[in-house]
Amino acid sequence: MYAIIGTWKMSCEGVREAHAGLARGGAAEDAVEQAIRAVEDEPGFTSVGYGGLPDHDGHVMVDAAFMNGNTLRFGAVMSAENIRNPIRAARALCGRETNCLLAGRGAEQFAIAQGLPMRDLRTPASMMQWREALRQENRKPDAYREHDTVCVLALDGRGSLIAGTSTSGLFLKASGRVGDSPIVGSGFYCDARYGAAAATGLGEDIMRGCLSYDIVSRMRMGVSAQKACEQAVKALSARKIELGEDAGSISVIALSPTGETGAATTLPVFPFAAGNDRGFGLFAAYPAQDGMDIRASSMQALEGEP
Ligand code: GLY
Repeated sequence: MYAIIGTWKMSCEGVREAHAGLARGGAAEDAVEQAIRAVEDEPGFTSVGYGGLPDHDGHVMVDAAFMNGNTLRFGAVMSAENIRNPIRAARALCGRETNCLLAGRGAEQFAIAQGLPMRDLRTPASMMQWREALRQENRKPDAYREHDTVCVLALDGRGSLIAGTSTSGLFLKASGRVGDSPIVGSGFYCDARYGAAAATGLGEDIMRGCLSYDIVSRMRMGVSAQKACEQAVKALSARKIELGEDAGSISVIALSPTGETGAATTLPVFPFAAGNDRGFGLFAAYPAQDGMDIRASSMQALEGEP
């Protein structure tokens, strides 16, 4: 059994190729890195890696993480500049007993020492959007306008379960701002015994619920990947509504050690790519309208049929 799931339509091509690698007996570690690198390298995807949208000061500051569910070790970089593939730096840090989460200059120096390629992540198009946005007064941050974090979860035939994330974060974020994506338990979590989960949306919301750990904890109690996603999103949204706030911008994915996938969202539609030994496809999760502003998800295949 092998399986893979990735957030947003932007992950589709990378996940498709990584899925083919898993089908040939490839490792989950390589599948996660390959799928995320494909998104990082594409300048048209403006919320991840090269071509990512800058912070308020005009710098593209990236966050990425990689977690091995067999060892519970993780590596992550945050608020780092000029690392061409932040997921490679995160993977290289995964396995370290200490110093596995590096910020800013430390992360950049680590990437250089590892011989990883460095590049200016700004593009003429991303800088044009930045200049244009600065001209707009009272612009409200929107986690989804630029499609947010790529998260990939993969299970290989040897039972390895891996989670990865990569993002340039919120467009026009304050210098030094870090979201959920490199924070273990919030943006991602992975335990090969119980399952893996990852989140995309407004990091400030996701961190308040330690959302990925919450999903995996529910799986540990015997809840399915799909139900765990729905319950965790619903619980955090409900709590926010209780506090007089809106439900928030949150979408999640999960993968069980037996290859069962899950997804849930507070958005009108949340596309994701998924595949297993029966095939590959692009899907979408939708919030169920249950008469309240608290939502669970239903799923629909957009293309293909895993
Ligand atoms: N979810 C990515 C961020 O808030 O930075």
